[in-house]
Amino acid sequence: IVPVVPPLGFDGDGKTYRVNSDSVALEVAKGLGAIKLIYITTQDGLLKQGQLIRQMLVADLDTILANHKEEVLPEMLSKAIHAAAACHAGVQRVHIINGRVDEGLLAEVFSNEGIGTLIYANEYQQIRRAMKKDIRAIQMLTKKAVETDELVKRPRVSIEKNIGDFYIFEIDRNPVACVALHLYAEQKKGELACLYVNPLHENQGIGRKLIQFVESKAREMGLSELLALSTQAFTYFQSKAGFTEGTPDDLPAGRREKYEQSGRKSKVLVKKLK
Ligand SMILES: CC(C)(COP(=O)(O)OP(=O)(O)OC[C@H]1O[C@@H](n2cnc3c(N)ncnc32)[C@H](O)[C@@H]1OP(=O)(O)O)[C@@H](O)C(=O)NCCC(=O)NCCS
Repeated sequence: IVPVVPPLGFDGDGKTYRVNSDSVALEVAKGLGAIKLIYITTQDGLLKQGQLIRQMLVADLDTILANHKEEVLPEMLSKAIHAAAACHAGVQRVHIINGRVDEGLLAEVFSNEGIGTLIYANEYQQIRRAMKKDIRAIQMLTKKAVETDELVKRPRVSIEKNIGDFYIFEIDRNPVACVALHLYAEQKKGELACLYVNPLHENQGIGRKLIQFVESKAREMGLSELLALSTQAFTYFQSKAGFTEGTPDDLPAGRREKYEQSGRKSKVLVKKLK
């Protein structure tokens, strides 16, 4: 059964009025205690400087609505306002998708990435420790970066051996990024490794969140220095995460040996934690 609720209201004299359908959908979702609300529109979703926003924390949408309403296309404003209201009313996810895309609804619900914009309440996104069952996801996620030599190839056994070092960033239980923290206890150093953000989710602060996460873990462990090796993202580590350029001498002896054997000529980056 598919119930259809028309956006109509009545006054005391029985006159009918058209009411805002976004607001009707919001009230129905609240009434049902829905975990998901999907707005089907004629636009691809919410845009930022012409680019589709794939996902956004409701707090960030609140900020836009409070301070930069003009950034939202006028025809999407009602959707944005009601999406935020729905998240605040306990609906965990609100999707805004283009109804004119063939099978768009199926793609949004059943594909990993979806097609439109997803507004989510806080608890929706998380960084969690990777488990054995995530090894394949880590390999799939980083495959492209391995091919372009941004990341070193990690065979299954090597990830499995160090699985406790890996963390996954999930959106809607879907791994979209990963990172690892390898510990050199004797030297009180840690190495941030295997940082990768799925390109569909890049430039949304996920890389920085993972670095901050690893940094705070390293501080909790009482480490004095965080290291990172990078062939192509060293300016990122410097400008966005406060690392400075180091030398291979900063690496613990065993790690330095591996570094030299690899011949990758990665730059060594260092962040002092104390
Ligand atoms: C580098 C990477 C982790 C960035 O992740 P992200 O979530 O897109 O980054 P954030 O959203 O935190 O930051 C985006 C900012 O960093 C900049 N940036 C992204 N990649 C960059 C790179 N390789 N070099 C320099 N700056 C970069 C963006 O231009 C953007 O700048 P702005 O905030 O001034 O607009 C991601 O692009 C990636 O996975 N790259 C391939 C793997 C890799 O190189 N990993 C590092 C080796 S351990």
